[in-house]
Amino acid sequence: MFGAQASAVHQCDSGWVPVLVGQDGSISLMSIGFLLERPDDAVVWRGPKKNALIKQFVADVAWGELDVLVVDTPPGTSDEHLAVVEALRPHTALAAVLVTTPQAVAVADVRRELTFCRKTGVRVLGLVENMSGFVCPHCSECTNIFSKGGGEELARHAGVPFLGCVPLDPQLSQSLEEGRDFIQEFPRSSAFPALAHIAQQILDGTLQPSS
Ligand SMILES: Nc1ncnc2c1ncn2[C@@H]1O[C@H](COP(=O)(O)OP(=O)(O)OP(=O)(O)O)[C@@H](O)[C@H]1O
Ligand SMILES: [Mg+2]
Ligand SMILES: [Zn+2]
Repeated sequence: MFGAQASAVHQCDSGWVPVLVGQDGSISLMSIGFLLERPDDAVVWRGPKKNALIKQFVADVAWGELDVLVVDTPPGTSDEHLAVVEALRPHTALAAVLVTTPQAVAVADVRRELTFCRKTGVRVLGLVENMSGFVCPHCSECTNIFSKGGGEELARHAGVPFLGCVPLDPQLSQSLEEGRDFIQEFPRSSAFPALAHIAQQILDGTLQPSS
């Protein structure tokens, strides 16, 4: 999505140097993808090995001063999630943004993620409903391909903030496939105002003192 697949990570005195992306190199990336020899390699590891690498990604990367560290996790409530919480808790105020699609099977997964956050004491900044409706570019009719409203209903039930709905947007998908800058290039797309609104709320939430 950042067009950084071919990047390599090297070592400096203070650890691994992250890959710098974004307009002025202001975003530092670290991914296991940078450490694989071939892009088709699979990471067939058991929990303890994954946990060790996650710890290294926190402790042994020369992150420097960061405003925010975003950790993109796989779905579920597994080794990776616990390892991330354990590795980061001593350093910073943790908070989670949960993303679901509207249909019941996805919402059920995210309900379990909410329980995970509660049990591990991770503050929930809010819930996002992605792929929430598709507006036809020809006739502007909105079709709710994956049903509608599941995320908002879950947020209400769980008593966490609902951050907003992101529609299915071919321009968003295109921009991610081609590693283009969505914010610069697609300001008139249907997902843009939704994402901007969600980002602002997350920013407001992370600037608040954590409870
Ligand atoms: N609102 C959207 N409109 C169009 N395409 C989208 C939208 N949201 C996500 N996509 C596309 O769907 C694909 C999957 O998205 P993404 O990687 O964010 O899902 P994910 O939930 O993180 O998946 P995983 O559970 O595997 O981590 C990507 O190719 C992305 O470009
Ligand atoms: Mg993902
Ligand atoms: Zn149409």
